[in-house]
Amino acid sequence: MLRPLFIALTITAVIAGVRNPEESKRMMDQLSDAEHYRSELHNKQFDHDAFLGEDQAKTFDQLPPEESKRRLGMIVDQIDSDKDGFVSLVELKDWIRYTQKRYIEEDVDRHWRQHNPDNEEFITWETYKKNVYGFMNELSETDKKTQEGFTYSNLLKRDRRRWVYADTDQDDALNRTDFASFLHPEDHGGMKDVVVIETLEDIDKDKDGKVSLEEYIGDMFKPEEGESVDDEPDWVKQEREQFNGYRDTNKDGFMDEQEVKDWIAPAEFDHAEAEARHLVFEADSDADEKLTKAEILDKYDLFVGSQATDFGEALARHDEF
Ligand SMILES: *[C@@H]1O[C@H](CO)[C@@H](O)[C@H](O)[C@H]1NC(C)=O
Repeated sequence: MLRPLFIALTITAVIAGVRNPEESKRMMDQLSDAEHYRSELHNKQFDHDAFLGEDQAKTFDQLPPEESKRRLGMIVDQIDSDKDGFVSLVELKDWIRYTQKRYIEEDVDRHWRQHNPDNEEFITWETYKKNVYGFMNELSETDKKTQEGFTYSNLLKRDRRRWVYADTDQDDALNRTDFASFLHPEDHGGMKDVVVIETLEDIDKDKDGKVSLEEYIGDMFKPEEGESVDDEPDWVKQEREQFNGYRDTNKDGFMDEQEVKDWIAPAEFDHAEAEARHLVFEADSDADEKLTKAEILDKYDLFVGSQATDFGEALARHDEF
């Protein structure tokens, strides 16, 4: 589920070698946050991030399966706040909220300190721009015309626009609260409009200002070479029906800004609850709508297991030959 921009960023960060890795990571996080918002496709990494927090999920990625199961067991004890031996939907939802908050809090803290080592009340746009995009001044005219140069200049424009949305008192400087909105717009109701615009831009490949059915599908699914629409998996077919039936409410064949907004940021939608429901549904073997530690450990892969670990195991097995 890597989207092209995501790949482009990873590559440019390596090639250019000038961008602070932290900043590249932040941008990727923002992209993956946007992805969480809009994809109903549940990918494993999303579940792990939601359950553990993105930073912890990365730690778990490095652990051997036995150790990660042991730690998962300890986490389950923590989630079961009334200590009745079951993890209820509410306990799981509270846990997911807690890990999200913790992750965002730590992330904002790290960036705030990085851009503002003297802990002043505000960070100005000029300071931020210099820290993150200062290297662009040293790019030659030729470099600026490359794909990378183009990508950075688009990121700069995007950051600039987002900054203005976060800058509630319009003095071009952000205090810590507003800087948090800037870094994590998905977490701040007041930033909804700019999240919608960024999402639309990401998907709108032909830049006509609206999302066609093909752009909508293309954002979440890439067919193998030679595959036709008939070969698409069922979830993609369902997404096509979703688009025509629900997303494109005015039936003009496209999603406009309002329709994108209704899609990614429906007023009453609770992400933590949706994720908790999903996890309970997947792991609840006896269908009593709550989870025992055994049920969770049984599905450890759903909660914390990682493809990286599987990959490590595969390598280890390979070594035996
Ligand atoms: C930052 O500024 C906003 C308004 O511009 C204000 O509501 C908020 O309380 C301020 N935050 C801090 C940490 O001072």
